[in-house]
Amino acid sequence: MTRATAVAHPNIALVKYWGKADRELNLPATGSLSLTLGIFPTTTTVELTEEATDQVILDGATLSGEESARVRAVLDLVRERAGTGAHARVTSTNTVPTAAGLASSAAAFAALAKASSVAYGLSLSDAELSRLARRGSGSACRSIFGGLARWNQGTSDETSVAEPLEWKGEDLAMVVAVISSARKKIGSRAGMNHTVETSPYFEGWVRSNAALVERASRAVAEADFTSLGEIAEMSALRMHASMLGAEPPVRYLTGKSFAIFDAVQALREEGLEAYASADAGPNVKILCRSREAALVTQSLRERIEDVKMHVANAGPGAYLLDEG
Ligand code: DP6
Repeated sequence: MTRATAVAHPNIALVKYWGKADRELNLPATGSLSLTLGIFPTTTTVELTEEATDQVILDGATLSGEESARVRAVLDLVRERAGTGAHARVTSTNTVPTAAGLASSAAAFAALAKASSVAYGLSLSDAELSRLARRGSGSACRSIFGGLARWNQGTSDETSVAEPLEWKGEDLAMVVAVISSARKKIGSRAGMNHTVETSPYFEGWVRSNAALVERASRAVAEADFTSLGEIAEMSALRMHASMLGAEPPVRYLTGKSFAIFDAVQALREEGLEAYASADAGPNVKILCRSREAALVTQSLRERIEDVKMHVANAGPGAYLLDEG
């Protein structure tokens, strides 16, 4: 096959990844744990061409610079394994506003790993796909899997890989509260590298977050939704605390983000279990039970004005589209 199309979904970390131990291999400073969402898929087609270079087209626009370099770097790894120098045309369609802290790069690189490996004739296991996706964007290694996934920190290309986690509790959902779809000023890669280099809190973040990965894994094994939610909110706030300590500070959360954190806390006080999280942007993601997601959304709408909300249940891992 010289052409393949794959679909992947974004994932939201319940225990965050923030900071690299190795920039070349994209090894993280701690493990992380996430939920793959059933909304905002990215569809990517990779087709081998006779051209002298790779071509990367995202939502109809040809990419250049850093963004296309990251895609080409993943293609290089695939070419090396496949033993060919053939270039490719990569055409990708996002359904999530790009770079708005909604993890579009996770879905993009998971879809790219799957589509490119098949287009180049490789038959990779999910673990191999996860390693490959990680090289493009760390969080992408988790989007190879559906539902809950844990990215084991690892100390090498081989050991730094995600795996699916079984959840025997009630179905999980995330309400994505979109405050802004504007392109963020500081991307997650630059933001985390800057935090590693300048924040005196980074060490404390690493130590505490490594422990949260273990606690969250136990909560998942015990189907303990309350613990998982509490840990998720803590990990998100600790990640943001590590960046607030950077010089100059990296600040993604706005007053409105905090207003949503407040509203989520108020819901809990009324007995509706929901937990807030946020990534490299102002938008807030709220973990709740699937059967209560509509109620959470409605209750938040009553409290916060001008916020667009999307409800996501757990989504599937990366898969190939049959182009028949
Ligand atoms: C805040 O995976 O985008 O979303 O590995 O440099 O591509 P790179 O970073 P990226 O960082 C994601 C950071 C986060 C938290 C998370 O998804 O765990």
